[in-house]
Amino acid sequence: MTAAMNDTADTADTAMTVAIDGPAAAGKGTLSRLIADAYGFHHLDTGLTYRATAKALLDRGLPLDDEAVAETVARQVELAGLDRDILSAHAIGEAASKIAVMPAVRRALVEAQRAFAVRKPGTVLDGRDIGTVVCPAAPVKLYVTASPQVRARRRYDEIVAKGQAADYETIFADVKTRDERDMGRADSPLKPAADAHLLDTSEMSIEAAFQAARAFIDAALK
Ligand code: DC
Repeated sequence: MTAAMNDTADTADTAMTVAIDGPAAAGKGTLSRLIADAYGFHHLDTGLTYRATAKALLDRGLPLDDEAVAETVARQVELAGLDRDILSAHAIGEAASKIAVMPAVRRALVEAQRAFAVRKPGTVLDGRDIGTVVCPAAPVKLYVTASPQVRARRRYDEIVAKGQAADYETIFADVKTRDERDMGRADSPLKPAADAHLLDTSEMSIEAAFQAARAFIDAALK
């Protein structure tokens, strides 16, 4: 089992998809993992697919601005091999955000994400465009957000907790730049689906967000 996938038996007749979107460091990864564990669903952090593509380009010394090259690399990404620890580096996130503006890269990765989404007994996919583009028919859509200040503080605390040096102002500037790129791109910009439930975790504990999500999922499963 990898950090990105939660393997359980394929038993149910129909698959249930929970689509979770939101900006970086809003808490959607933690929430997704809690939901996947509670319901025995498979989990895919779709950000890792963009990160894996970016890392493969960086490792091979390939350009980050050649769409055809990036698409070829995107089509080689194996969902089973995604490792959060290896892919979490800041430089990889930055590069991922750049190649994520390319329509051909998005098409390649969305195909793989859609194939994952139908796995039984159900799936949780988190990212930026799950409820709007990847799984627009998902029965449960959540948009998890928090203020840029709170998200930057969380990133800062995570880095410091690992014993690494961090500068809050730099992280805050990065969060804002990443938001602008993710929300401002022409293809599949980050935005809540019209039928998404909004969860603002600025002043909400992850446990409270999880309980709110459970209520939406339980209602959809009935
Ligand atoms: O969630 P993350 O930081 O791991 O995502 C890295 C980048 O990948 C993010 O800046 C935008 C992109 N991304 C995307 O465009 N669509 C997704 N569904 C997930 C991530």
